[in-house]
Amino acid sequence: MTTTDPSLADPITRPADHFSATQAAMARAYELASAYLAGLPERPVSRRPGPAEMTGSLDEPLPERGCDPAEAVSDWFARAEPGIVASGGPRFFGFVNGGSTPAALAGDWLASAIDQNAGMWLSSPAAAQTELTVLRWLKELFGLPAAWVGALTSGATMANLIGLAAARQWAGARLGFDAAQDGLGGLPPIPVISSTEIHASARKTLGTLGFGRSSVREVPAPGGSVDLDALAAVLAAVDGPVVVVANAGEVNTGAFDHLDAVADLCAAHPGGAWLHVDGAFGLFAAASPRLAHLTWGIERADSVAADGHKWLNVPYDCGFAFVRDADALRAAFAAGGAYLTPGADAGWDPLTHVPEMSRRFRGLAAWCALRAYGRDGYRALVERCVENAAAFAAWVDAAPGLELMAPAPLIIVCFRYAPAHLRDDPAATDAFNREAVAALQADGRAFVTGTVWNGRAAIRTAFDNWATGPTDVAILQEAVREIGERLAAAAG
Ligand SMILES: Cc1ncc(COP(=O)(O)O)c(C=O)c1O
Repeated sequence: MTTTDPSLADPITRPADHFSATQAAMARAYELASAYLAGLPERPVSRRPGPAEMTGSLDEPLPERGCDPAEAVSDWFARAEPGIVASGGPRFFGFVNGGSTPAALAGDWLASAIDQNAGMWLSSPAAAQTELTVLRWLKELFGLPAAWVGALTSGATMANLIGLAAARQWAGARLGFDAAQDGLGGLPPIPVISSTEIHASARKTLGTLGFGRSSVREVPAPGGSVDLDALAAVLAAVDGPVVVVANAGEVNTGAFDHLDAVADLCAAHPGGAWLHVDGAFGLFAAASPRLAHLTWGIERADSVAADGHKWLNVPYDCGFAFVRDADALRAAFAAGGAYLTPGADAGWDPLTHVPEMSRRFRGLAAWCALRAYGRDGYRALVERCVENAAAFAAWVDAAPGLELMAPAPLIIVCFRYAPAHLRDDPAATDAFNREAVAALQADGRAFVTGTVWNGRAAIRTAFDNWATGPTDVAILQEAVREIGERLAAAAG
């Protein structure tokens, strides 16, 4: 690493240099980012240096002396570049990632530059009102009741936490205690019911909130969608208030629980039932008149969680939570302190609706994206992604040696290799699929992730990147076909 005038690095003694240093560092970041984005569509999606390689390039003692800020930015990029995964690009079909639209990316950069604390109205009226407007626009996009309150979060995990914290508050009030104030110690457990396909993040937040990860009474979900008769039976066996967690978009298949019917069962429960819907990506079906039927009934829920960094295609990190009962939400996250007095004409304070106090101004990226693309743009984006998924699912279904593991109603296609020579050997077929996932990931043309569905090793692909087009889907198909043939040839 070369070092320019080291005194430039001292932010205390050379304050006059700061603005030019800021401009130079931002220009360098812009150059690096532009070159990266220009190459993103072609960049191999597998970038998997091992820990030794990454440690070798980045792990070192704290520098005693600094360097020019622009140089620090370039230095990081050069060292870390092998470990940068093209997960924002159009051929990354793993997990459920999404990319960043131009408007969202630019908004996110601006948010860093203006460095607002989006915790309170007083700390940034611009950030607080932008977030409120984004929440309003999202409710309008998804047809959720305007009166619901909400907040932007770091993702669907925190959005699940917010919805379930409000649920805990509501259940506690019914049982005569204030969960946020007094804790849960010594109190009877609050029953939680969900399908066997409850997402790991919801289970994690149940642990954080004191319900306990093992509190979930699991109802079978053949095909990914909760069995309604079985749900009714489990509900009937519970006295008192209960929390029901439903899926709008199960992570392996994209399947939806029948939300209207689940809401009917909740409404009929004598002890009261709080319906929380995890719609991390599935909520976006509501943005398309062609797909909105999948989410029918969601407006009858008590809380809904979703992600921004998935299908809204804004940069990490962003999610959002909506809650019907504003009092329950505020009771869960109320925060006071002499130095936090809002001020006479203050507006909304986000920090009374979320676990954090100080927060990133996530609303700006989302505002720019929703302003730039509007309802029509998001409808088109959602429908294009669903068409990509449907095209791939149809190809899998017709391809010899491949098996579609479940219907693909939205953007997840779950499939597996079913090689003829392993027809009578389920364990070897599982091993073949695991090997194929590793080979596809190493290949670099299209990134997929493995899973287990109905007890069998399978492969998942998610189509929620705004930039993915038919050519990318064709490249995925080609990679899947070729790698299957290669592994089969090697085996036999
Ligand atoms: C259905 C579902 N819920 C919750 C999450 C967690 O979202 P995040 O990783 O953004 O916190 C995911 C992530 O894939 C998901 O698919």
